Amino acid sequence: MDKLLIQGGTPLAGEVAISGAKNAALPILCASLLSSEPLQLSNVPHLNDISTMLRLIAQMGVEVTLDGADGLVLDSRGLNNPLAPYDMVKTMRASILVLGPLLARCGEAKVSLPGGCAIGARPVDQHIRGLQAMGAEIHVEQGYVHAKAKRLKGARIVTDMVTVTGTENLMMAAVLADGETIIENAAREPEVVDLANCLVAMGAQISGAGTDVIRIRGVERLHGAAHPIMPDRIETGTYLCAAAATGGNIRLVKTSAAYLDSVVDKLLDAGCEIATERDAITLKAPRKLKAVSLRTAPYPAFPTDMQAQFMAINCVADGAAVIRETIFENRFMHAVELIRLGADIKIDANNAVVTGVPRLDGATVMATDLRASASLVIAGLVAQGETLIERIYHLDRGYERIEEKLSRLGARVKRVH
Ligand code: UD1
Repeated sequence: MDKLLIQGGTPLAGEVAISGAKNAALPILCASLLSSEPLQLSNVPHLNDISTMLRLIAQMGVEVTLDGADGLVLDSRGLNNPLAPYDMVKTMRASILVLGPLLARCGEAKVSLPGGCAIGARPVDQHIRGLQAMGAEIHVEQGYVHAKAKRLKGARIVTDMVTVTGTENLMMAAVLADGETIIENAAREPEVVDLANCLVAMGAQISGAGTDVIRIRGVERLHGAAHPIMPDRIETGTYLCAAAATGGNIRLVKTSAAYLDSVVDKLLDAGCEIATERDAITLKAPRKLKAVSLRTAPYPAFPTDMQAQFMAINCVADGAAVIRETIFENRFMHAVELIRLGADIKIDANNAVVTGVPRLDGATVMATDLRASASLVIAGLVAQGETLIERIYHLDRGYERIEEKLSRLGARVKRVH
């Protein structure tokens, strides 16, 4: 298993390009199941989660063709197997995103339940309830969701909580339904908007994406389209945090601060100087960071996917901060590893009190989930001496060529096999 060896203590400096957003690309790959005409995508990130999703839809009969360095053409004319087997779903929860499109296009689907994951139980009851409201017959048997519907019918759906993939699944199911679907309490995440833009390019009728009420008027069929995947706001935020924590000065290109208000605000509170252009962000760290408290919540509030990285920043900031996690019940696993590097963190239920320390010291640590891994990388870049991060397959799920990008910014990072 690959490990990441980091020699800490070098401020990041220079320019790096941000990749396409994993969390936009995953539902958009599933959107290809909705039409028998090709979907041409660009700015697709090279990530393990993307390869997993491509394998999953390929075994359903979708033809996948590479198109240049970061492009793909997906042709689901031959879609003939509306099945997502456990072996493929278990490694990636987002596989549940095939359920809505398969049901809408094939009238049936058999999708393995994703099960729990390291950061919490994460059920899919809202996805199932929404599809039932649209007339699907669903039963769960031997770990599989069996769903059937001759043609889904438009419905008014109010989700119990804001769910990102739930909103995306229901939106994809509704585009081919008979009549109008209204999703209330919908997720407002930019990735939901990117998916809606792609569906509209394919001929769907959607309004309100980006607000908490999305209206979808079903159409008979969708056609082919071309769509560029939006930049990854979490990758962007992670590099900004790495630069802030190391006292660096970096410029990120092929990205935008447009979806990062809450993160940029916290970095400003921490004392960073930030300049934004249309497709770039520059950050200059202060001599000493100030601790910043935060609370995670659905977009546009502070993203749970940036919580671990900010914990790493607070570990070396001036003062104490309280981090409150409200989305997932078990998302502080990075704290114990950060403590191994010398951090001062006290956890009480979903609150973490982080008191800044003058320095962290390198050690061997273990990555436990995707964003936890990112926080360990940031801490390793700051720590004196050598940090060895084990189980970095989590990192490869969501960060494209991370050691290469960090090296370009002057970090001393090496992948060891
Ligand atoms: C998505 C993101 C993930 C991010 C998360 C929250 C993708 C592929 N992943 O995950 O990176 O951390 O949003 O921003 O886009 N819930 C239920 N029942 C459901 C659905 C959700 O109880 O049917 C709960 C979850 O357990 C969680 C909360 O709702 O506590 C929010 O989860 P959700 O927004 O669905 O997360 P994902 O879409 O899985």
